[in-house]
Amino acid sequence: MKKYPELTVSPERYLDETVTAKTTAFVDLAAQQDEIRPQLESRIHTVLHHGKYILGPEVSELENRLAEYAGSKHVVSCSSGTDALLMALMACNLGPGDAVFTSPFTFIATAEVIALLGATPVFVDIDSRTYNIAPDQLEKAVQAVEQNDSSLYPLTQPVQPDQPFQPHNPFLLGP
Ligand SMILES: Cc1ncc(COP(=O)(O)O)c(C=O)c1O
Repeated sequence: MKKYPELTVSPERYLDETVTAKTTAFVDLAAQQDEIRPQLESRIHTVLHHGKYILGPEVSELENRLAEYAGSKHVVSCSSGTDALLMALMACNLGPGDAVFTSPFTFIATAEVIALLGATPVFVDIDSRTYNIAPDQLEKAVQAVEQNDSSLYPLTQPVQPDQPFQPHNPFLLGP
């Protein structure tokens, strides 16, 4: 068997190099802020002075500028990614008896907000190339829910077992 001594490192050397290695932060907010620090700090001071943190003029300005950037009529800002997901589901009036097809390749908040409304997350396998929900798997999962047949696709139990899945108009949420 061919050996690659140049690629092997002794445990002592590995530990030594790991301890002394320069690390790069995965998320370096300070470096990002440095790019716009004067404007950033001046705008923060303006907000501190007028004290309108909730729905103040800067919030409207951000929403208007984001709407313009995204080419959309409206933008509604909120406090977190979790709230953004929750608001979208609430806008669809989802609740007990609704199945929400989602990706298992995501953060826990995605399923959490579905369950919070009493709806049931149905995890659909992802495509190994794109890592997005695989369309053929989604078709099977929708059929399984519509026909209430777990042999077509493995289904999660409804979050509220006394509220089986109801036929519903489908919504498609996404970017
Ligand atoms: C895919 C995804 N959705 C939702 C969230 C939740 O966002 P927040 O922590 O702002 O509530 C995260 C957070 O990491 C996320 O990665």
